Amino acid sequence: MPQLETTVGSTADGLVVLRSSPQAALLGVEDPYAEWFVTPQGERLAHLGRQVDPLFEPGNLARYLYTTALLRQAAPQHSQLILLGAGFDCRALWLAEINTGRCQVFELDTQEKLGQKQTLLEQHGVPLPAWDHLIPCDLRKDDPTALLAGAGLNFSRPALVLAEGLVFYLPPDLTRQLLATDRLLLAPGSRLVFDCWAEERIARLNRRVEAHIGLRMFQPFPFPVSTPGLQGGLQQMGYQMIEARSLTGIASQYYQMDIEDETPSSWWIVQAEVPPGIGSMGSFGEND
Ligand SMILES: C[S@@+](CC[C@H](N)C(=O)[O-])C[C@H]1O[C@@H](n2cnc3c(N)ncnc32)[C@H](O)[C@@H]1O
Repeated sequence: MPQLETTVGSTADGLVVLRSSPQAALLGVEDPYAEWFVTPQGERLAHLGRQVDPLFEPGNLARYLYTTALLRQAAPQHSQLILLGAGFDCRALWLAEINTGRCQVFELDTQEKLGQKQTLLEQHGVPLPAWDHLIPCDLRKDDPTALLAGAGLNFSRPALVLAEGLVFYLPPDLTRQLLATDRLLLAPGSRLVFDCWAEERIARLNRRVEAHIGLRMFQPFPFPVSTPGLQGGLQQMGYQMIEARSLTGIASQYYQMDIEDETPSSWWIVQAEVPPGIGSMGSFGEND
């Protein structure tokens, strides 16, 4: 596998290093399975992240705390949860608000990542329940909509979609397509949650990571990453009820101190909803 792909895949390994760290415990991060997934490769990635980006650790931990709270609140209102770039996120399995069996979960990531995940879960005596569907999908080549249909997603019902730590690894055209309401064919009432980086952050981190390991890992977002840019871009894609929040503000709340970024507001968390009259209701499965 090319080195860039392997390194992008290992970002999931880096996150479990953070989530199983003493700092995470102090902050109240819950990830009971994280330590099972810690590897030397993940340790190296986390070391690199800490070297090149002062926001790497606080930003990723704050994002996880924020999305965990969001999943706790929103998952019980949805019968379907889609995790795009799921990596070693195991909240579907242990979070009480998700793992009742009432919610069908669809986890998409590369074959390699999901294979590692399933193997390690089995090694630790956690079999995959029937409602948790691991869907190998290289988003650059495969059709996630068709794969979701094949795995049983009901396109006439709303889904909660989380793309956490994903879009800065995808080419901008692909991100635009992936998030478009008419691409994933999400039903009205579906809710999309993702995080994205501003151009300066991407340029800065590409420069620093390249100086360390010779790779430019990060890709731009398809429209300006600012309140008006995100609002306008997502509205054009057909979303409503768009909320964009700067991650430094969120991190400062969790850390109870000012968490500074090198350039203001370069990392955002966005939520948006598919309004009535948009989305699928059609081409794929009314399968229940
Ligand atoms: C930073 S990790 C985030 C993992 C997980 N969402 C979390 O927060 O723990 C990024 C994930 O995106 C996945 N990813 C990146 N590019 C992808 C692609 N083209 N197709 C599928 N998955 C991809 C990687 O394999 C990796 O697991």
